[in-house]
This record gives sequence, structure tokens and C-alpha cells, in this order.
Amino acid sequence: MKPYLIAPSLLSANFAQLGAEAESVLQAGADMLHLDVMDNHYVPNLTVGPLVCEALRKHGIKAPIDVHLMTKPVDRLIVDFAHAGATHITFHPEASDHIDRSLALIRKHGCKAGLALNPATPLHCLEYVADKLDLVLIMSVNPGFGGQSFIPAALTKIRHVRQWINESGQDIRLAVDGGVKTENIAQIAEAGADMFISGSAIFHHPNYQEVINMMRQQLAEIRHAKT
Ligand code: DX5
Ligand code: ZN
Repeated sequence: MKPYLIAPSLLSANFAQLGAEAESVLQAGADMLHLDVMDNHYVPNLTVGPLVCEALRKHGIKAPIDVHLMTKPVDRLIVDFAHAGATHITFHPEASDHIDRSLALIRKHGCKAGLALNPATPLHCLEYVADKLDLVLIMSVNPGFGGQSFIPAALTKIRHVRQWINESGQDIRLAVDGGVKTENIAQIAEAGADMFISGSAIFHHPNYQEVINMMRQQLAEIRHAKT
């Protein structure tokens, strides 16, 4: 079993002080940063481009940056974000006409490649690309906004993907994004996730360290129960 990873989503951070927010959440114990890229086309919201990823790197952020592309198309942005310092790049299968090619493009540029599945997206697009995936990201809300409630059906999907990953024999992370908080993180881990993306639960809490510690404690109990 891999160590659990906590990836705060900067979407809920204070954008007027993004560098400082990134530093404090990492200092508070986050493993990496999650950067939500929205294009007002694939999703009904508009956020940031490669410039912001590059600015975080220039600011001195060394931790992995997990770029979540909610854009259509994806290929040009894959290259731009790889150059801007992304370590992971994840896209939605509906947003690429050539999923296999987009996944290969991510790895070609030295990043880890992921597919993000919306709440109603079936798993079959994973079937023939297991060897090209480093990450499967299960959306537990509809993409576009932070602060939404976790959709319970995602738990069943996480269980199915966990089984699929185990059977595939590949080294693939299972991330969950949307509505993840201290109250449900244990249940999500129990279902088989090993990477937890959380925005509002962390950034809307007055003490980042306290909330991340509470999440780690919940995760430690599940890990203990599983071993
Ligand atoms: C939603 C984004 C998520 C979101 C998570 O489209 O992909 O990363 O910011 O935020 P919370 O944890 O507030 O649901
Ligand atoms: Zn996200």
C-alpha cells in the first residue's frame, strides 16, 4: 500500500496571496498542491493558466504540482503546463479526441499522467490505457466549483477503480476530488483511494495544520484497520 497523499486544491486559497498560501499549506503538512484549471468552455468557470504554475515555481515552490485540466481541448495546455513546472497533469477523457495520444504526450514531457472521471463517466475509457496511467482521479462533485457536497455514489466507483487498479498490476494512484473533508476522508480511504484532493475544507479552516493533522489521523486509523 502506498503512503496516503493530501493535495490541497488552491481553488479555495486566497488568490491575492497565492505564493504565501501555497507555502503555508505545504508547511502545514500537505504533500503537494492541486491546481484547478478551468476554461469557461469545458466547465462553467474560469481560473488560471500555465503562467500561474510558473509563478509558483519562480516563487520557490518545490513540492509537486498536480495540474487538473478542466479544459477542452487539452494537448496544447499539456505542453504548456509541463514547461511551466507541473509534475502531474490530469485531463477529462471527454475533453480529448485522442486519449491515448494525450496521455503519451504528458509522459513525453516528463510528467505523471492522469485521467479524471466525472460522476457519470463510466470506467471503460481506462481499459486499454492502464500502462499509460499514473493516476486515476475520481470526481466526487461535478467539476467547476469548490465547496460542493461529496456525491455518495463516488464511493462505489472508488471501490470499482481500486479493484481494477489492483487487477491491472500497474502502479497507479487513485485520487478523489470534490467535497473531501475530515468527516468523510476515512470512508473515502476505506473505499480504496490513496490521494485526497481537498479545497474548501482546508483553506476555509482558520488553521491549515490542524485540519491536515485531523485528516492524517483519520487516515492513520484506516491504514491501521486495513493492515
Ligand atoms: C472542482 C475541483 C476541485 C475542487 C475541490 O472542479 O476540481 O479540485 O476545487 O474543492 P472542494 O474540496 O471544496 O470540493
Ligand atoms: Zn480539481
